[in-house]
Amino acid sequence: MSLAPSSSATMKPSKGKLPLSIVMIAICSFVILALLYTDTSRSFFKQSCSRRTAVRKSKAKTAEDYLKNSAIDDRFEFDPEECSVNTGKWVFNKTLKPLYTDRSCPYLDRQVSCVKNGRKDLDYRHWEWQPEDCTLPRFNPELALKKLRGKRLLFVGDSLQRGQWQSFVCLVEWIIPQDKKSMKRGRSHSVFRAKEYDATIEFYWAPFLIESNTDQKIIADPKKRIMKVDSIEGHAKHWGGADILVFNTYVWWMSGLRLKALWGSFPNGEEGYEELDTPVAYRMGLRTWANWIDSNINPNKTRVFFTTMSPAHTRSEDWGKINGTKCFNETKPILKKRHWGTGSNKGMMSVVASIGKRMKVPVTFINITQLSEYRIDAHSSIYTETGGKLLTEEQKADPLHHADCIHWCLPGVPDTWNQIFLAYL
Ligand SMILES: *[C@@H]1O[C@H](CO)[C@@H](O)[C@H](O)[C@H]1NC(C)=O
Ligand SMILES: *[C@@H]1O[C@H](CO)[C@@H](O)[C@H](O)[C@H]1NC(C)=O
Ligand SMILES: *[C@@H]1O[C@H](CO)[C@@H](O)[C@H](O)[C@H]1NC(C)=O
Ligand SMILES: *[C@@H]1O[C@H](CO)[C@@H](O)[C@H](O)[C@H]1NC(C)=O
Ligand SMILES: *[C@@H]1O[C@H](CO)[C@@H](O)[C@H](O)[C@H]1NC(C)=O
Repeated sequence: MSLAPSSSATMKPSKGKLPLSIVMIAICSFVILALLYTDTSRSFFKQSCSRRTAVRKSKAKTAEDYLKNSAIDDRFEFDPEECSVNTGKWVFNKTLKPLYTDRSCPYLDRQVSCVKNGRKDLDYRHWEWQPEDCTLPRFNPELALKKLRGKRLLFVGDSLQRGQWQSFVCLVEWIIPQDKKSMKRGRSHSVFRAKEYDATIEFYWAPFLIESNTDQKIIADPKKRIMKVDSIEGHAKHWGGADILVFNTYVWWMSGLRLKALWGSFPNGEEGYEELDTPVAYRMGLRTWANWIDSNINPNKTRVFFTTMSPAHTRSEDWGKINGTKCFNETKPILKKRHWGTGSNKGMMSVVASIGKRMKVPVTFINITQLSEYRIDAHSSIYTETGGKLLTEEQKADPLHHADCIHWCLPGVPDTWNQIFLAYL
């Protein structure tokens, strides 16, 4: 698989002819595509934060105490109704240790096992997300398993969602004795079971949520991919009976400016497709998903979550590095407030937000986009695999073509996504 021609184009965007954002969508999608293609069958793949004075973390007794503690004092305990996770900062804490490593947790794919794959700089594991106006509780595995007792938790989506699923499993599995847990990996459906809790933590592969001709056997050429924008039952029949559903879908849609879409049963085979602008196709696909949720999910029984888009960091100019190579060799987060790069498309985000608003079944967004945007240092980069094999030394020496700036190392940023998810649960 040669990525050379398309990827080298990232270095010279043709300014002036097309709006940069459009050019970037097209360019980034080549890179994204190339990376997704490496996902082989083997490794299958309310918000304003008012400062609340009533609930104080520590109670000040005297004015002096109050002054001394005021920095802590005006951050209240996390409450999803009151506190936005979008505004905040990453704080470095060397004594903070991840709950697992890629050696201690047996369920991590090689794609995300960065340290095992040779990553030496480890600071990226010691950053903690701190919302501006509240304190986010640390991930507590006992609490997580208690909340899941007797329940079926199902993550549905693409390889980024698979990362969030593996992070969740690894965050809790280490407190369960060996004979009280099991893992069954399948091509599209994988199940981790915590026997004593009668709980499962599952992943179902559906990169577009709706059906397409590239769900199982990945079609490398995006021009040959066809979205069945009104078909979902083939996937959704596996979701019934889940108590907690967590969806995502974004990056697979970003393979070009336009996508091929099909409706209903197609007498003309796959000839009857129509080409749609990407956000239009995305809206149709998400509507199909929303309709399925609204007509099949009882909100009294099942909770529905949606993880927002995970940013790619394939363009170092986004963070002011003219001569950088994507996210390669980055060891610190971006510290500039509200940084937002070209890897996160606001138009696509607004599609998700507007569809979510009109649903009957309430959907809780795990809005991870802004906080992940800062983390150029936390991607798999060259410490990953391609086509089921670790990158070779030559490939590692050519990060422009081989660094993965879409997926995240584990432990890492998806642990924070799950920290937020658990706080909502
Ligand atoms: C850093 O993490 C350690 C271990 O969890 C904790 O005890 C300490 O309070 C943290 N420090 C800061 C500044 O948050
Ligand atoms: C959910 O529970 C409420 C209150 O108990 C009830 O009024 C409503 O009909 C229930 N909804 C469904 C879909 O069962
Ligand atoms: C980037 O590289 C070019 C050519 O290698 C060099 O001329 C330029 O000074 C570099 N710019 C920065 C900001 O390092
Ligand atoms: C990585 O960055 C460091 C400084 O941050 C620099 O010294 C080193 O040469 C860089 N490595 C490569 C291969 O660009
Ligand atoms: C997620 O947060 C961003 C701001 O960081 C906001 O623009 C976007 O609308 C939010 N997405 C959803 C689906 O609520």
